[in-house]
Amino acid sequence: MRSSIGVGLIGMGVVGSGVARAITENSTALHSHVGSPLKLIRVAVRDTSKQREFMVSQNILGDNPEELINDESVNIVVELMGGEHPALELILAAVKNGKHVVTANKEVISKHGSEIFSLARENNVRVLFEASVGGGIPIISPLMRDLVANDIKSIKAIINGTTNYILTRMANEQADYQQVLQEAQELGYAESDPTSDVEGIDAAYKLSILSTLAFRASVKDTDIFTEGITSLTDKDFSYAKELGYSIKLLAIATRTDSSVLGRVHPALIPKEQMLAKVDDALNAVEVETDLLDKVLFHGPGAGSMPTSSAVVADIVNIARTIAGGTDLLDPVRLSDEIEIRSIDTLITKYYFRLEAEDQPGVLARIAAVLGDCGISISSFIQKGLGDQSTNAELVIMTHEASESSVTRAVSSLRGLEVVRMIGNVIRVVE
Ligand code: NAP
Ligand code: HSE
Repeated sequence: MRSSIGVGLIGMGVVGSGVARAITENSTALHSHVGSPLKLIRVAVRDTSKQREFMVSQNILGDNPEELINDESVNIVVELMGGEHPALELILAAVKNGKHVVTANKEVISKHGSEIFSLARENNVRVLFEASVGGGIPIISPLMRDLVANDIKSIKAIINGTTNYILTRMANEQADYQQVLQEAQELGYAESDPTSDVEGIDAAYKLSILSTLAFRASVKDTDIFTEGITSLTDKDFSYAKELGYSIKLLAIATRTDSSVLGRVHPALIPKEQMLAKVDDALNAVEVETDLLDKVLFHGPGAGSMPTSSAVVADIVNIARTIAGGTDLLDPVRLSDEIEIRSIDTLITKYYFRLEAEDQPGVLARIAAVLGDCGISISSFIQKGLGDQSTNAELVIMTHEASESSVTRAVSSLRGLEVVRMIGNVIRVVE
């Protein structure tokens, strides 16, 4: 038996503190899972004087990640600092030094996964990243291993805890967007720059990782159409409820023959669907395959302890192979070439909310614009905007239409003098 397996931790914030706590407080159980003790050798942070959720001995705390990467007694480097740089360079340097790596960094894996994995192969080390998608939900490992017999057709997911928390609170309590965003930050769900969460960028990184694994072909973050939640207002939640829908930030990748359409955007989903009931910081990933039909992975998608669960599992899996001298499966082998389809090819139903003059003939003119673009109306709601206003609010639900015709219709409606403003256009996912 090895005397111990050395772990070096870069970052001891929300996730890193949970990981340090788990390695320290669960050491006996982890020892028995691995067959050798796990030892936290060094921890690198930015500010060594900061008070933290979990404190480690000052002897192992420093502010230079390079030291940790060059330390011979560190076998596994755990990168939990986040961001693209210098996290990428540190991961690459660790791999070149023959260290295994565990990371929760979706940005780095999404943008640089292929470079990292091929370097890891050359250096005969493993880079695991279960926590990068879905927090504590096991989804990376099932896609790489348990679903390998399946041909995956689509992924439909809620994979950003911060936005799901915000949308749930806005829908149920008419909560103020800025205030709930701040709460999500205080609860440790948000990225250090929450723009990444609310603009859908974090979900796009995650969807690119899931799509690459599911379709065994490189799908980059820039291949994903991305729209965030910042245009949603109280009115949208109230109309969605009236119409029997929930609003969620969905991440969807659909494979058709040899092409994939990946998209992240707010969507109206019928309230009886399972994904509509995934609330707060919970995440869910629905995978549709040839053999299984649909399988749903559901659970805590962000936060310190759920994410630590996935990070520590990766550490244990690598440590077991070090302790037992066995090899882990080579996780990421991409074979297929895949064409990326534009969002313009999407065909779905749409919700339009707009304000227009409350005059005879106005609705007919709006319907004519939609009709000219090949868009057929399935239902509409009209509400006055109070005695002082000469305008009315219209909510139009359409039958299936193509995204390109909706783009044309929006542009024509903007040019119609009776239309005061287009409040929102939201895709419907059934
Ligand atoms: P965080 O709370 O901001 O913690 C980041 C840590 O990295 C801090 O301890 C910080 O040090 C340290 N750090 C930053 N730059 C550094 C540098 N140049 N040198 C040394 N240390 C540095 O972030 P987090 O929420 O734990 O997230 C970490 C990673 O996990 C990110 O990739 C994130 O996307 C991912 N993730 C997070 C969650 C979640 O729920 N939070 C879930 C899944 C995945 P100081 O403390 O001294 O500032
Ligand atoms: N900021 C991310 C989220 C953390 O809210 O989902 C988990 O990856």
